[in-house]
Amino acid sequence: MPRVLVLNGPNLNRLGTREPDVYGSGSLEDLREALSSALSSTPGSSIDLRQTNDEAELIGWLHEAVDTATPVILNPAAFTHYSYALRDAAALVTQAGILLVEVHLSNPHAREEFRHTSVISGVATGVIAGFGFDSYLLALDLITRRLR
Ligand code: DQA
Repeated sequence: MPRVLVLNGPNLNRLGTREPDVYGSGSLEDLREALSSALSSTPGSSIDLRQTNDEAELIGWLHEAVDTATPVILNPAAFTHYSYALRDAAALVTQAGILLVEVHLSNPHAREEFRHTSVISGVATGVIAGFGFDSYLLALDLITRRLR
């Protein structure tokens, strides 16, 4: 398992200072370190963690995942709830037989009504939500085990 793309949508560059009671006090850099150290026992593997506030850029990264057959951990952030364009791009990944795990730091189902809908979940391989950074770590563990 050489590389996992860890893609993060809008406002997640503010992790650490954005609503820490909901999203925790760790930054995106802290998340990168936690994921990298979790992979340290799997030689030759790496994570490629990215964040964007731009829907088009996120879609481009999913196309890249298809073209390079790279598994994806995706936190679509607010795009989760309404971006059909992102859903279509995520579907390209799983239709190509590539793992795509949708993750959320918080549990959207325990929050406002508009967060209860994910237009992504129906095309994801699976969903992990509500465990903070552990949502990503669990997704990474799952991908590692599936591709072993
Ligand atoms: C989020 C949940 C979304 O509803 C929200 O818009 C986010 C973060 C999460 O990780 O809990 O930006 O995806």
